[in-house]
Amino acid sequence: MTHTMVIFGASGDLTSRKLIPALYRLFQRKRLAPDTRILGVARSQFSDDDWRKQLRESTAKFVKGFDAQVWDDFSEYIHYLPGDINSGEDFHKLAARCSEIEQHKPTTRIYYLATMPQLYEAAIAQLGAAGLAHDDQAARRIVVEKPIGTDLKTARQLNACLAKVFTEDQVYRIDHYLGKETVQNLLVLRFGNTIFEPLWNRNFIDHVQITVAEEVPVGRRGDYYDGSGVLRDMFQNHLLQLMMVTAMEGPVRFNAQFVRDEKVKVLQAVRPLRGGDFADCGIRGQYEGYLKEQGVNPESQTETFAALKLYIDNWRWKGVPFYLRSGKAMSCRNTQIVIQFREPPHLLFGEGGRTKPQANRLVIQIQPAEGLQLYFQTKVPDEEMKLKLSQLDFRFASDAGEMPDAYQRLLQDALLGDASLFARSDEVELAWKIIDPIIAAWRSPAAPPMNSYPVGGWGPESSIAWMHQQGRDWFDVCPVIH
Ligand code: BG6
Repeated sequence: MTHTMVIFGASGDLTSRKLIPALYRLFQRKRLAPDTRILGVARSQFSDDDWRKQLRESTAKFVKGFDAQVWDDFSEYIHYLPGDINSGEDFHKLAARCSEIEQHKPTTRIYYLATMPQLYEAAIAQLGAAGLAHDDQAARRIVVEKPIGTDLKTARQLNACLAKVFTEDQVYRIDHYLGKETVQNLLVLRFGNTIFEPLWNRNFIDHVQITVAEEVPVGRRGDYYDGSGVLRDMFQNHLLQLMMVTAMEGPVRFNAQFVRDEKVKVLQAVRPLRGGDFADCGIRGQYEGYLKEQGVNPESQTETFAALKLYIDNWRWKGVPFYLRSGKAMSCRNTQIVIQFREPPHLLFGEGGRTKPQANRLVIQIQPAEGLQLYFQTKVPDEEMKLKLSQLDFRFASDAGEMPDAYQRLLQDALLGDASLFARSDEVELAWKIIDPIIAAWRSPAAPPMNSYPVGGWGPESSIAWMHQQGRDWFDVCPVIH
């Protein structure tokens, strides 16, 4: 069956930067069904051709190796309808326009909410009221961009609003981190091999570090960011998603229900923080100069850096700390999961067994380049039993060429009806249940101090000291794989 993708928020940044380039690539790779239709909806009074012209320019800018001929063929898929999300009448026009471009044939329809989050609930209700959410002959799905609420209460409200109009299996909540190739590869690494999984537990692993470092400051998004902060912007979604994929049990089958059931169990097992934990289990920071950013309150107490220590209380992970860390204006763009193994139980080598060897480490680099690095001890040649830490590197790029953008994979899955890499309502709500109390505590007198940090580093000094107090070190290395 062919598809129509209706994009609400057609004139926005997300559409031109991510959605259209991803659809163009899918078309180029012949992954779109023939007669696919893309219908942009926004308030601006464009014609089909106006919108195509704009998108041609932006796609040429954002897609490496843009091919004008491919674009010309692809652009025939593109249509535009001026419309206001608050107007019921415009949704009837939408119904008519969809049927017209689908030539009245049964067509799977995907509604993509790429608008301002304030408009989500209105859009969902209007789709329901106009009878656009269900059809006996063809599937209807809705894709919702982050943020899914700004706390547990608003997330529940949005989920309830969705549930009134759509069934849960029609709803695709995007977390673009799940579309990143290396995140999916982590599942393959763990459950497609036999050599890692037996070691993937408290008996062999000392701790896990998940770092999402961004080199960019908040830039033009100061207004949004100051009301959000790094816990809402990055932890509730991307970092907890990475943690779930790292810590989950192997699903019975690789499908949306089983994968998400296992991910949810990880969040259910996260030990709730209480009392003094809020100060002990986290570090807050703000980069120098943040208060002068456009749109930021000059007395803002919003954190642009945070580090958290969480425990997952189950048989596999009891007692293994998961350190989650993210910040803006750090030394480089780097997303890594570091599996730090335990030290060998008995010291045999070095000065009469006195030299402590460094423990094994597996670094899973999510971006910028995707790859793995395994650290292990070897003997220094031509020396008596002196050890050094050596490494095995694996680069995805040398294996597979250019890596697709996360949106490409996620849009394709949404078109095909595979929700395995999308967040379920319970997952989102549990994530807020973990993050909300931390945000509340960090806005109270019990908050750990706000430490400023220089642009281009690894966050506040206190974060490094905090790890040292626990007898550990951050793995502060800019991309290990290039
Ligand atoms: C977004 C956040 O969800 O993810 C941004 O709102 C952040 O603040 C971005 O910069 C990071 O995504 P990526 O794919 O560049 O790591």
